[in-house]
Amino acid sequence: MDNVREDSVKMLNHALELEHAARIQYLAHAEQKKLQNNKHFSMMPIAPLMIEHRLIEKMIKLVEDELYKINQANKVDPIFIEKTVDFFRTYADRCHHGKEENILFGELAKKKLSSEHKKIMRELINEHILGRTTVDRLANAKERYVDVDYDTTKEIVECLKILVGFYPSHIAREDKQFFFPCMKYFSQEERDIMLDQCWEFDRSMIHEKYQKTIEQ
Ligand SMILES: [Fe+2]
Ligand SMILES: [Fe+2]
Repeated sequence: MDNVREDSVKMLNHALELEHAARIQYLAHAEQKKLQNNKHFSMMPIAPLMIEHRLIEKMIKLVEDELYKINQANKVDPIFIEKTVDFFRTYADRCHHGKEENILFGELAKKKLSSEHKKIMRELINEHILGRTTVDRLANAKERYVDVDYDTTKEIVECLKILVGFYPSHIAREDKQFFFPCMKYFSQEERDIMLDQCWEFDRSMIHEKYQKTIEQ
């Protein structure tokens, strides 16, 4: 195993450990809720989304480091790209954007939003679409790199640059300009229902993922 690949594997293992730590933190919140079942519980449904943002930021840092390595070595590590595709497809898109679009944005769409919030929500959804199509392009470029032995380094680099280019500002916008102000549209009961829907969404995701594997 060459040094570049070894470093990538180490970094990805680290990312997986961080993801695991975030999951534990997540479960701790659920346990806390159970314990406080008879009291007023005020955790907001944006809390799990913000915890997930921290992990996506760490992955973005790994991609930035990988871009530097690709530039230095002028070659791609397909294993890193494969894990990057899986992270952005499964965690960032299905798990994270899935909760944003199906739960939070879906409930917001039923409310009378300010024109500013409507505009931000539309732009955030468009960025999710950009992320999705970029990851599809990245997966496709990686397949050609490996299977056809065709040099798609330029396309891979372009896709990685798009991801590191928009995700940090997308996350900062949600954290700082959108999530908290949008909570004012919901009652405490509505917030609690959304938080429960977030836990349920995550719980069913693993089953959905492997059900699809069987069906493919
Ligand atoms: Fe988002
Ligand atoms: Fe987000």
